[in-house]
Amino acid sequence: RQNERESLYIVLNYAKSFYQEQLLRTDEGQAIGLSYFRERGFNDTILKKFELGYSPDVWDAFTQAALAKGYQADVLEKAGLLIRKEGSSTVGYDRFRGRVIFPIHNVAGKVIAFGARILKVDKSKAAHQPKYLNSPETSVYHKSEVLYGIFQAKNAIRQQDVCYLVEGYTDVVSLHQAGIENVVASSGTSLTVEQIRLIGRFTPNVTILYDGDPAGIKAALRGLDLVLEEGLNVNVVTFPEGEDPDSYVQRVGAQAFKEYLGRAARDFITFKAETLLLDAGQDPFRRAEVISEVVGSIVKIPDAIKRQIFFRRTSEMLKVEEQMLISEGNKLLRKQQ
Ligand code: CTP
Ligand code: MN
Ligand code: MN
Ligand code: MN
Ligand code: MN
Repeated sequence: RQNERESLYIVLNYAKSFYQEQLLRTDEGQAIGLSYFRERGFNDTILKKFELGYSPDVWDAFTQAALAKGYQADVLEKAGLLIRKEGSSTVGYDRFRGRVIFPIHNVAGKVIAFGARILKVDKSKAAHQPKYLNSPETSVYHKSEVLYGIFQAKNAIRQQDVCYLVEGYTDVVSLHQAGIENVVASSGTSLTVEQIRLIGRFTPNVTILYDGDPAGIKAALRGLDLVLEEGLNVNVVTFPEGEDPDSYVQRVGAQAFKEYLGRAARDFITFKAETLLLDAGQDPFRRAEVISEVVGSIVKIPDAIKRQIFFRRTSEMLKVEEQMLISEGNKLLRKQQ
């Protein structure tokens, strides 16, 4: 078991170097991969820092190179790099082809997986060709426990005493390039307890920077009761419709981006109440639902003093008696126990 993991780390590290070489030192890599990253505004320093790469548009370029180096097909498959068809006489084909590559590191800096982006998103073929293709679960990669960028971000998170949580790989890379380094990505999935505890090793403060589309806002509402339960302090920043942290920082620059964060950050409870209230309009029944939703989140906060503060704030916002919220909360708390 230990041996298998060690050999996966070695082959994954080899794959990372292979994809990097392809990006930086081959004609195809430069013409396609490098110019893609340049168009997105990524500079050489940031490409190297995140060890970004390119996988050639060939069925088995990586596999052949790895076999020639003496790596076993079996190990390539267990690392999620090689796809073999049962009963086929050929060795199989590369999982990642004709894509730009984002290596995913664990907290100690070892490569454990890859995310791979298609170069052009063709909406009509979206079902066949996902925008991002990711490594499968392997013995070194448990998706639900990983945060993209944690290795590059951990010192900054500790120093700034806050972790910015974004949705995507490119959000992490662009923010680093802008000098904002305390940032990790959930990679588009809703947060898990393991990921939250990973952040909690470095800071109790999380600011969610999700995409300014309905899916991003829903995701922000969905995953976050879990974060409150873990005792972390959560703030939320949403971006203008159609923007994400990457596009926004590339458009306005680092200084204006930071000012925006300062202006737009709201604590999670306020964010939730305001968002749901906007949806509910004047309908009294729906407003009542909002109240119990928000109280449901407040009672997830383990700290009684913080709960108290949020009951008061929410009572002003929702224009209901604080005492009523507290007794609703107590009912829920009793049910939980
Ligand atoms: N994602 C994924 N598979 C997909 C789409 C998205 O794994 N088919 C994950 C990726 O980790 C991606 C994140 O969800 O980075 C956020 O998705 P999205 O906002 O659509 O992509 P961006 O990161 O903004 O990528 P880009 O700017 O390159 O379009
Ligand atoms: Mn596990
Ligand atoms: Mn999105
Ligand atoms: Mn984006
Ligand atoms: Mn995005």
